[in-house]
Amino acid sequence: MPIDTSSIQQDLCTEQNLIHFNSAGASLMPKPVLDCQIQHLLLEAQIGGYEAAREKATAITAIYSSVATLINCEENEVALVENATIGWFSAFYSIDFKAGDKILTSESEYGSNYMSYLQLAREKEVVIEVIPSNSDGEVCVIALQKMLDKFVKLIAITHIPTNGGLVNPIIEIGKIAAANNILYLVDACQSVGQLPVDVKEIQCDFLSATSRKYLRGPRGAGFLYVRKAITKRLNPPLIDVRSATWCEIDSYQLRDDAKRFENWENNYAALLGMGCAIDYALHIGIDNIAAYNTILARYLRQSLAKLDGISLWDIGREQCAIVTFSMRGIESALVQTLLQKHDINVSCSQPSSTLIDAKIRKLPDLVRASVHYFNNYSQIDKLINVLKQFCHPTP
Ligand SMILES: Cc1ncc(COP(=O)(O)O)c(C=O)c1O
Repeated sequence: MPIDTSSIQQDLCTEQNLIHFNSAGASLMPKPVLDCQIQHLLLEAQIGGYEAAREKATAITAIYSSVATLINCEENEVALVENATIGWFSAFYSIDFKAGDKILTSESEYGSNYMSYLQLAREKEVVIEVIPSNSDGEVCVIALQKMLDKFVKLIAITHIPTNGGLVNPIIEIGKIAAANNILYLVDACQSVGQLPVDVKEIQCDFLSATSRKYLRGPRGAGFLYVRKAITKRLNPPLIDVRSATWCEIDSYQLRDDAKRFENWENNYAALLGMGCAIDYALHIGIDNIAAYNTILARYLRQSLAKLDGISLWDIGREQCAIVTFSMRGIESALVQTLLQKHDINVSCSQPSSTLIDAKIRKLPDLVRASVHYFNNYSQIDKLINVLKQFCHPTP
């Protein structure tokens, strides 16, 4: 089913001439997502925050079912959190690592995740091993298979890295993790809302995601999936009166479901906004979104490739909607500023966000133009025309 672009355009809250190619940073919320948050904030101001949460209890419960539908899990496998990082941390630090345990990860691992491995390597003498990429730039599953031994405790992979267009083969990796009974943590921060993400198919134990990127939800919301069968083994790094019950003076009881990873206090307007954004995406159809974005990103890459003085840095067989490039003779941060003067939003991605990949591929600071289904060809043409003005042709 093709995407109904006119209703999507009508739901945008932006000025007409603004071109937003920054969904990998924070996307644009559609009107229903904005309205649902405003209504809840108003209700909180009118009747009180706790009372508003009680009045909207059914809608708040429905957020869990929206997430469950989106990623194909059960509602009690979902924790609602403040952002992808908190979700990921809650999962990672709940694992009972011992000295000598190994973490296998990818070359394109996200900075915050990798620094957590480093922290644990320092504090608990856990061993970090980076799975080499294959010639396409994806995690090499053959190499992964050879790296397995009895010390491997966790395979942790970023599905879509923050830059570089790459989509890692998380289903193939999941088959290996499941067959060898190894915990499997997937960072789906950039992929949820962009591509179909099905935790049963991926066979992961944990999956973290954020609201504000390809889901087009508000900032300050996210979710964590935790597979039901392992929840009771996990010891969350932080507990409060939401995740556990203080039963006796000297003891507490953790919840049995994924809510053992939640906090009591929440920004319910943001969470409701995320639920609404998920329903909005599901209504359009994630397959439709993925198909549209693939075509648009391909057009952008092809158009950029025709410009003299542009280097494209994307890798992988199946490239996603995050397009990264640099311009000869102009710092990427300056390209971002110059484009903003023409009402075109892009972002700038530094090597430190994916340092291993950046060192291996000698990545400079990159311009990241991330497209989504509310963008179109003529916006890409405008970007290209503006870039042409600053291109420094081959000497
Ligand atoms: C791959 C990846 N993982 C995790 C994060 C962190 O997400 P959040 O800021 O919602 O915690 C980002 C943010 O850009 C990201 O690109």
